[in-house]
Amino acid sequence: MEKRKVIIDCDPGIDDSLAIMLALKAKEIEVIGITIVCGNAPVEMGFGNAKKVLKQVGRLDIPVFVGEQKPIQRDYVNALDTHGADGLGESFLPEVDGYEQEMGAVDFLASVLKREKVSIIALGPMTNLAALIKKDRDAFFDIEELVSMGGTFKSHGNCSPVAEYNYWCDPDAAALVYDTMYQRDRRIHMVGLDVTRKIVLTPTILEYICRLNPEMGDFIKKITKFYFDFHWQWEHIIGCVINDPLAVAYFMDRSICEGFDSFVQIETQGISMGQSVVDAMNFYRKNPNARVLTEVDSYRFFRLFISGLLDMEPDELDILQDIL
Ligand code: RIB
Ligand code: CA
Repeated sequence: MEKRKVIIDCDPGIDDSLAIMLALKAKEIEVIGITIVCGNAPVEMGFGNAKKVLKQVGRLDIPVFVGEQKPIQRDYVNALDTHGADGLGESFLPEVDGYEQEMGAVDFLASVLKREKVSIIALGPMTNLAALIKKDRDAFFDIEELVSMGGTFKSHGNCSPVAEYNYWCDPDAAALVYDTMYQRDRRIHMVGLDVTRKIVLTPTILEYICRLNPEMGDFIKKITKFYFDFHWQWEHIIGCVINDPLAVAYFMDRSICEGFDSFVQIETQGISMGQSVVDAMNFYRKNPNARVLTEVDSYRFFRLFISGLLDMEPDELDILQDIL
């Protein structure tokens, strides 16, 4: 199987970290770089967390590039309340020194996209992508495929009644990306809360991972404990919603999700700022600029997620069906 080249644009971040590990293990994906954006954590903290994750999986060969420090117009609002003071579940893992790159994230994106056939899996606010459009629009259009964890169609928001964090944190960037995709009749894959809320890492699933692979299980336990506590405190969920790994899993296997093509516009002002307005009934008579995902087979996701992380074959996951 030919590997597809991917850049992961992210804001690690607990679920971003799980997504990075899955992508690095996936036989379908060649991660050629990781670009960091301000989001869950300030960009320098995200850079440090990405290095901690790469060290954990022995992949410090993957270059990591520091991106935008703040949203293109709004004041920056982090999500450390959700991801912990260190952005990695207050695991306080030892820092990985050095590893700075000679260029920033946007310059890396602009240079590599013109040279190679590369897709982008965007797991954070779209600030780096908006900066790329402003710097080199043609390079942005060279993106092979753009998969974005973000937005929501019918599910309620997680930053306001209608807005999901990645698009709420930098609504102007998200709006620019969706508008630019529309102008070139391109479609972004919107992996929104409608599907990611169905991906809950429960204590039982985590315990299963620990039994299968104590080292990986212990690492996941270390970085998700804070996230479990957050979900219990705020949503009375036993477990934690792991949004970002679904975007990677969907890139690996489209058939685990269902959805429809639609015109989508991002609201940048007022009470619904950051809302992804999905024109499912085609009121505006505009060509689709997004594939909006609405259903997910969570069993197939966890088969892919666990077997990928643990270097196992899906068929080896004997009791998974029983514990979901
Ligand atoms: O709303 C969830 C998204 O915002 C996830 O990508 C999470 O990591 C945060 O970036
Ligand atoms: Ca993220």
